[in-house]
Amino acid sequence: MQELTREINNHLSFEFQASHTYLAMSIWLRERDLAGFSSYMQIKSQEERGHADRLIAYLVDCDEQVELPSVEAPQRSWTSSQTLFDDVYEMEQAVTASINRIYSIAEKAGQRSATALLDWFVAEQLQEEAEARFVRKRLRLAGENSAALLLLDQQFLDGTALSTVKGGPEKR
Ligand SMILES: [Fe+2]
Ligand SMILES: [Fe+2]
Repeated sequence: MQELTREINNHLSFEFQASHTYLAMSIWLRERDLAGFSSYMQIKSQEERGHADRLIAYLVDCDEQVELPSVEAPQRSWTSSQTLFDDVYEMEQAVTASINRIYSIAEKAGQRSATALLDWFVAEQLQEEAEARFVRKRLRLAGENSAALLLLDQQFLDGTALSTVKGGPEKR
């Protein structure tokens, strides 16, 4: 198996693990009646599965072998929505680092189809990190104020919570 194929296969575990973690976060948030945050996380979970699907389709199109990873049981509880979003940010940063690493390998190998595929992921990660940073800051501002937290939750339900983040979710 070529290095690039192996690395893309390894990266699949980041996407599946992220999908699983977002689902666990969605459940934790729903249990706390934060329906807006919860549905945002549920959508993110599906998106991460979509990212894995893109990589799988690429490997199949290139006639390369796909090796699906096993997925670990994710963390089930958080001390606050702030710490939950700290985890989101850290997780997305790790995904970005992995994408960047694969990008360098693809570049060195002169694999243009892979860099073209990965360009989409680079833009996606920029957006994901920007969103996570934005929500983190909002939650810091809200602090212990439940009314502020509920307002942000309502904005997620209304689809306006991230409207000022560059790139915006609707432009995906
Ligand atoms: Fe992803
Ligand atoms: Fe992501």
